[in-house]
Order: sequence, then structure tokens, then C-alpha cells
Amino acid sequence: MCGIVGYIGNKNCVPILINGLKRLEYRGYDSAGIGIILNNHSEVIKNKGKVSLLEEKIEKMNLQAALGIGHTRWATHGVPNEINAHPHYNKSKNLFVIHNGIIENYQILKTGLEKFGYEFVSQTDSEVLPHLIDSFLVKGHSLFKSVQLALAEVEGTYGIAVIYQGEPDKIVVARKGSPLVVGIGEQENFVASDVSAILAHTKQIVYLEDGEVVEVCKDRFTAKTIMDKEIEKEIHEITMSLDEINKGGYPHFMLKEIMEQSSSVCNSMRGRLLLNEGTSKLGGLENVIDQLVNSKRIIISACGTSWHAGLVGEYMFEQFARIPTEVEYASEFRYRNPIVNKDDTIFFISQSGETADTLAALREAKIRGALVLGICNVVGSSIARESLSGVYTHAGPEIGVASTKAFTSQLVVLALITLLIARKKDMSLVDGKSIAEEMQKIPDKISAILKLNDQIEKIASEFKDVKNFLYLGRGYNFPVALEGALKLKEISYIHAEGYPAAEMKHGPIALIDENMPVVFIAPKDSTYEKIISNIQEIKARKGRIIAIASESDDNIDKLVDYSIKIPDTIRMLMPILTVIPLQLLAYHIAVKKGLNVDQPRNLAKSVTVE
Ligand code: F6R
Repeated sequence: MCGIVGYIGNKNCVPILINGLKRLEYRGYDSAGIGIILNNHSEVIKNKGKVSLLEEKIEKMNLQAALGIGHTRWATHGVPNEINAHPHYNKSKNLFVIHNGIIENYQILKTGLEKFGYEFVSQTDSEVLPHLIDSFLVKGHSLFKSVQLALAEVEGTYGIAVIYQGEPDKIVVARKGSPLVVGIGEQENFVASDVSAILAHTKQIVYLEDGEVVEVCKDRFTAKTIMDKEIEKEIHEITMSLDEINKGGYPHFMLKEIMEQSSSVCNSMRGRLLLNEGTSKLGGLENVIDQLVNSKRIIISACGTSWHAGLVGEYMFEQFARIPTEVEYASEFRYRNPIVNKDDTIFFISQSGETADTLAALREAKIRGALVLGICNVVGSSIARESLSGVYTHAGPEIGVASTKAFTSQLVVLALITLLIARKKDMSLVDGKSIAEEMQKIPDKISAILKLNDQIEKIASEFKDVKNFLYLGRGYNFPVALEGALKLKEISYIHAEGYPAAEMKHGPIALIDENMPVVFIAPKDSTYEKIISNIQEIKARKGRIIAIASESDDNIDKLVDYSIKIPDTIRMLMPILTVIPLQLLAYHIAVKKGLNVDQPRNLAKSVTVE
């Protein structure tokens, strides 16, 4: 959601902070700010809007400092404006705090602090932090101790970075529910909410766990819990490169990520598909495989696009692994006292691995004793670390807010898991081999679909001004209809709904007229004939139809206005292919409307608040 970056060393921190903030902008971007300290001088500069506006403001000031923190904000409490932007500070303006997350008891804390004369200028929950820390500093505690004491009073979630003119040799950071890392350099150290902010400077990373407070100086760091217990932290070497998070010549991250999908799904499968044995090898599941195979029930929990992947997973698990499967929004699961048994397996799917609802649902499931497994893209993310075991999707960094390549990689991983369980149960070698062989052909088929980009762009021109869209699919392609509709609405702001095609006649058909475009996902599979009947029902009511159809289908052209022909595969893998034209359609419509596809309004890449 919001982004944090900080620097301590011998260099001028200002350009380091600004560049870090630019890399973090995809997480949240309604305002930004930096706080810096140099000897006896401290300065805070904030601005509404993009980091580039903050940069313009700072350029005129010629600032130099070797210690500083920066923040990009995505508003939760208080409108996006300069006052509500971070850093927040104490009355003397010599203590700066940046905060990701939500302080749930901020009203109580604020009222208490006001009684002692503390004055608040912003509408944010975050502003209680500098005042609360200040209230301990004035009693003579060190900055580190003051942060520990303040956090002991805080309820809610946070990733924070704090600097103080009285102790200008350190940044104090802490985490509960909002990611934070320390980057280790030579006579310089960094802090960030996301490694992408500091990757240009270091690959040596220390991940903070919930409840940890770390004092970061330029040549050392020390970690303790809030309750002052010392902790040994491990330094991890990360492999992600800067190139991987650049646009690579594409106008938008979203297009780059769509176009990467033949290689990203390949990476998800690499070394995991055992063609001769007709199964898969997933290192992360080896120690739990018996428990997984013998599960009485599988629950898949996730949010948004990852939840759609879960729905496809349900079809796969029930058809081949023959384990009853339920899919549930993490936000619902966590609050409804779900029935979870010890012989259940619960998969939590998350691209970022930081989604607050998914993480909370995971913790709830762990308490209830189920086998808790993660399917995550971001290595070392909270969900990955807190799951008992799991599988990384290895789709590479996804920067565009709309999830694309992460989704197809999630589907690949779900197919690999299906194959693994099914072969340990009753799937024959012959059937396992034929699925594995089909999986291996998927990257080439994706490349063929991506070549339809120009055709899809032309179709997008025809539809860019419509107000509503309907997406219909059946079976494995029903979740794809939901995903196609989500992609369109989140980046083009066109209202779109996904439905199982047969449900149309139970209500949505009333919406159909010549102004209502309908996207049918209609590959030649066992429900093809039924989908054709649905197409005819729409045509009879003058609806305009775009069909995602099989290459071999010559019949469909006379029934629809536009057809996008894609290669066939087996039903369980079809969503990996059918979703790609829908991603491109949404992308081109949004671009033609002049919208910011990588940073759509009101959205953030990683939703670390409830
Ligand atoms: C849609 C989108 C969101 C995410 C959702 C879950 O394009 O990106 O719906 O899928 O916020 O995020 P993760 O997968 O990071 O848990």
C-alpha cells in the first residue's frame, strides 16, 4: 500500500530517497514526503500527488543530508493532502515518523496525548506515533526505548521508520503486519517496505518479523522485540535484478507483464514438471505431501485476482485430485468463525504475500490447526514465511497494479499441485503424462495468443466508449469471466460483470440491448454447444458479442461480431490461455481512454490494510 524508504550513510540521502520512492509509487501514490536530518538541522518536505512533484519541490532547495526517510502514501485516514502526507513529526519538528498500516486505537491515544498538551495538525491515525514517541523521549528514554514503549501501547498494524535529531546516527524501524526490510551496504544501510526501493544499492536483505524493532546505524544494526528481548537476524542474499523491475521498452508495466507470460509460466514450471512420470515435483510440499494427499477437504482463500485463481483451483482439485474443495474470500473467512478441521488443508494464494486479509485469514487457520500452505509470488513475503510450507509461483516481480502474469502463474502452480496429488491418488500414468505434456505446450500457445495483440487493440477501439460490459463463461472459464470483468473495471473504470453463462437467463439478460457488449469465453469444450445457445440468446436481443474461441472453430464467426481465435488445450489448462486476450482487451481499452493503466485510481498493488 504505502511505501517506506530510508537511508543512513555517508552519501547525500535525498536522491536515494527520491529514487526509492519512485520505485515504490506503484504501491500507493496520493502524496509523498521526506524527512532528513543533518547535524543540527532537520527538514521535512511533503507534497500532494506524485513523487515527481515532490522531486521538483526539493530540487529548488538544494538539500544535503546523510540520514533521511521517505514515504509514498495511499490514504486510509484523512484526505490526500500535504498535511496528511508523511513524515509526521513532533512539536519541535526534530522527530520524524513514517508509517504504513493502521493504528486502530489512535483515537484513545490521541485523546490521552492531547490531555498532556500534544497538538495534532493532521487527520491521520499515524500522527499519534511521533507524539507518543516524543512523550517517552522527554522522560529521558533513548529513541530506541521510546519506540519500544510507544509501540507497546499501539493496537493495529504498522511498518514504521523513525529518525530523531537528538540521535542523528540511526533509523529505528519496527514491524507489525506491514512489511519492512533492512538493506545492508558498505558503511551505509537502508530500510524499505519493499526491496525494489533499495535494490539499486544492495541485495543483502534482513526481513523484519512482527513485533521486532531494529536500530539501523550506518555500520551496524541491532534487533530486539518490543518487549526488549535480543534477536539474531539472518542476512539474505536476494536474486532479483534491477532489470527485472524496469519496463524493458514497453510503454507500461502491465503490457510488459502480459507479454512476459510465456516465459513467466515457463519459470513457474521449470524443474517441476516430470514428463516421464506424469507428475510434478514441488520441493515446498515434500514434507507435507502425505497430509495434503489425505486431506478430507481443501479450502482455498485469497482476495481479488488470486481468489479467481482459487476458483479455477477448485475445479482442478475436485476433478482430478478428488478432494472436496471450497474457495473463500480471505476477508470473509477471517471473520465468520469458519469450521476448520485438523485434516483440512488450506491454501492461501497471494501475489504480494502481504495482503492483510489473506494474512489474517492464514493466522486464523493456523490457530485452528489445519495444514496451512501458501502460494505466493514474492519470495520472503509475510504469507510465504508464515505458511507451514508452500510453493512459489516464480512469475517475477509484478509492478502493474492489475495482476496479469501472477494470475497465469498461480494457475500453473495449481495445476502442478493437482497433478502431484492426483498421481498419488488414482490418476493413471497415461493420464498424468498427457496433462504434463499439455502443460509443457502452454508457453508456445501463449506466444501465439500474444501475437493477436494488434487484432485485440482494434477491437478495443470499437468498445472504448461503452459504459457496461458483460463477461460470460462456463466451467473452468467461469472464473475467467470474473477475472476479465475485474481487469476491465479496475483499469478502464467501465462497469463490468462476470457471470456463469447459464445464469444469464436468471436476470442479467434483462440488461441486453444494442449498447451492451458481451464477451463470451467459448472454446470448443464439453459446454461449447450450450455456450452457442447463450450466444444466440444475446444475438436475438441485439447485444454485441466478442468471443474468445478455438482456432478450429469456423462456425462461431457468423454468430458473433468479433472473434479472437486461440489454440486449444485440455479444459483444466484453458483458463491460462483464455484470460490473456481479456487482459489485452482491458489494457487497450484503458490506454485508449487515456488512463493510467499501471496506477489506476484508488488502487494499490499490495493491500496491506483491511
Ligand atoms: C487485481 C488485483 C487484486 C489482487 C488482490 C490480492 O488485478 O491485483 O485484486 O489480486 O488485491 O492481492 P495478492 O494476490 O497480492 O494477495
